[in-house]
Amino acid sequence: MQYSTYIFDSYSVSDTLRFGRAFADALPEQAAVALHGTLGAGKTLLVQGMASELDIDPQIVTSPTFVICNEYIGRKTLIHADVYRLNDSDDFLAIGGDEWFQSHAITLIEWAEKIDDCLPLNLYSVSISQCSESARQIVLKSPCEEVTDAVSSTLKAS
Ligand SMILES: Nc1ncnc2c1ncn2[C@@H]1O[C@H](COP(=O)(O)OP(=O)(O)OP(=O)(O)O)[C@@H](O)[C@H]1O
Ligand SMILES: [Mg+2]
Repeated sequence: MQYSTYIFDSYSVSDTLRFGRAFADALPEQAAVALHGTLGAGKTLLVQGMASELDIDPQIVTSPTFVICNEYIGRKTLIHADVYRLNDSDDFLAIGGDEWFQSHAITLIEWAEKIDDCLPLNLYSVSISQCSESARQIVLKSPCEEVTDAVSSTLKAS
């Protein structure tokens, strides 16, 4: 599959929240998103930005590390999972994780690299690298150009 890429430099928490809002607006109602980045990179914060765009109170979006998965219903539904505590794809299948991808929702998976072989082909990915205490580079890869174009134009305009 051909992917298009958009790179965004975030210099603050509010930049990353802004990226999340633009991304949530651009995504279709059903999508699978792998979130990559080291501990504290900003994966959960980005999901809080997405929530606020979808009329979900961002304060109720908390790290799903211990519960594995949370669901939030807004203008689009978010399934927010963190598979850090799972061992591998077998664990993921055992909890029925693959069914999340069938639901009418945007499914976001933190530490998705742990379950690589369960991820759908038409996957979006967001990789966050820590450049300094407050700066991050966010790399979005999308299976369709419309989404990267929409995110890019929203962020340029804001
Ligand atoms: N530009 C920035 N973008 C995102 N987060 C930032 C930025 N600058 C500082 N931070 C801080 O980095 C932390 C990101 O935490 P967050 O819980 O979102 O990370 P995470 O990637 O989900 O980590 P984990 O793998 O532990 O779940 C927050 O404390 C946030 O305030
Ligand atoms: Mg997190």
